[in-house]
Amino acid sequence: GLDITGLRGATKAITLDEGYRNTGACESNITFINPEKGILRHRGYPIEQIAEKLSFIETALLLFEGEVPSPDRLKRFSDLLTANEMLHEGVRQFFDGFPSTGHPMAILSAMINTVSCYQPDVMELEDEDTFDVSAAQLISKVRTVAAAAYKMSIGHPIMYPDPNLSYCANFLHMMFSIPKKVYEPDQDIVDALNLFFILHADHEQNCSTSTVRLVGSSQANLFASCAAGVCALWGPLHGGANVAIMNQLQELHSTKMDLGKFIEGVKQKEYRLFGFGHPVYKSFDPRAKILSAAADRVLAKLGVNDPLLELARRLEDVALNDDYFVSRNLYPNVDFYSGIILRAIGIPVNMFTVMFAIGRMPGWIAHWKEVRDRKSKIYRPRQIYTGPTERSLA
Ligand code: ACO
Repeated sequence: GLDITGLRGATKAITLDEGYRNTGACESNITFINPEKGILRHRGYPIEQIAEKLSFIETALLLFEGEVPSPDRLKRFSDLLTANEMLHEGVRQFFDGFPSTGHPMAILSAMINTVSCYQPDVMELEDEDTFDVSAAQLISKVRTVAAAAYKMSIGHPIMYPDPNLSYCANFLHMMFSIPKKVYEPDQDIVDALNLFFILHADHEQNCSTSTVRLVGSSQANLFASCAAGVCALWGPLHGGANVAIMNQLQELHSTKMDLGKFIEGVKQKEYRLFGFGHPVYKSFDPRAKILSAAADRVLAKLGVNDPLLELARRLEDVALNDDYFVSRNLYPNVDFYSGIILRAIGIPVNMFTVMFAIGRMPGWIAHWKEVRDRKSKIYRPRQIYTGPTERSLA
């Protein structure tokens, strides 16, 4: 029933579905979402079970390979992570060129491509072994790069990774150790970080993952495709929302603004309530539920009393009882409580979206691999041209 008379230049009927909201861009075996029921499963396993029983690295292997890894497989991949945790000295020197004000997402994206320049074999990913090494390099080095970018931004020397530490503990060490004073993270902090990464690991065809698939469909290498994913994640409507909500909460707290007045501004569309709403979920986001419960647990265990948590709870309460939010199916999303947990761990706000990127890396890699394994066609959407008809410069 599409009227094609206005589709100038089209030789066949083209469906207009702005933002591809109702268009399946691919077939995928990785992640299932039921938007109405708030269900999220990876490779068939509910996110609630994954969050409770698996580590971040086990989750990554589940996403890549479709099965929970055996102890032997996990050990082999963990060894690869350790073998690839250092940065080439040439890569390290690139950090000196960034100003301390450089945004960590810009640095992360640039450094992922920089790392690839020191791994010329990444262009030759043809078999399982080379994929394994490249995936391990990305997952491992992105953590080293992120911590190094943070250290540079505060003028501290970069801390080398410690091969004896687990993935999350090693990241915390590189973030918070200083020369002659090793940071020894509490197991609760390590667990909280593990949970944060797992809950961000994949979410099917979101903006950044679709970007990675699109770039990968041109047969661009894994590093280039994931660097593009970082850029797509950066925006405040996607991964950048975890910074935006934290800034919103901070401002509300410091100005002691009345919540009713703030919500009125949201309803008048003067600004959005960040961390609320989702392009897919039309009921609750199951990740937000897990993080909401975890926020209470983690802060209590760490003995942190954060007024922003109480503020977030009050905001959620007001919003969920307001017809503006209810009628538009606006519920807290993954970003609403995640920042409060990161803050309790000691992660600075300008690193929040980088944390999301580290967590999302396994999903990006799994989707890139799926595009390759399925020998997908190059992604090439069409458009409806709305510009001038033919003109002449004569
Ligand atoms: N605050 C206030 N109003 C909102 C919000 C919000 N957070 N989100 C949507 N709305 C309103 C819109 O103004 C619109 O109202 P209207 O029907 O009167 O015009 C209606 O709800 C639908 O909004 P859309 O922008 O069409 O919804 P869409 O599905 O495109 O947007 C998005 C989804 C981008 C996530 C949006 O809800 C938003 O901007 N949220 C805040 C940013 C955020 O938290 N992003 C993280 C998303 S999850 C992730 O990437 C990890």
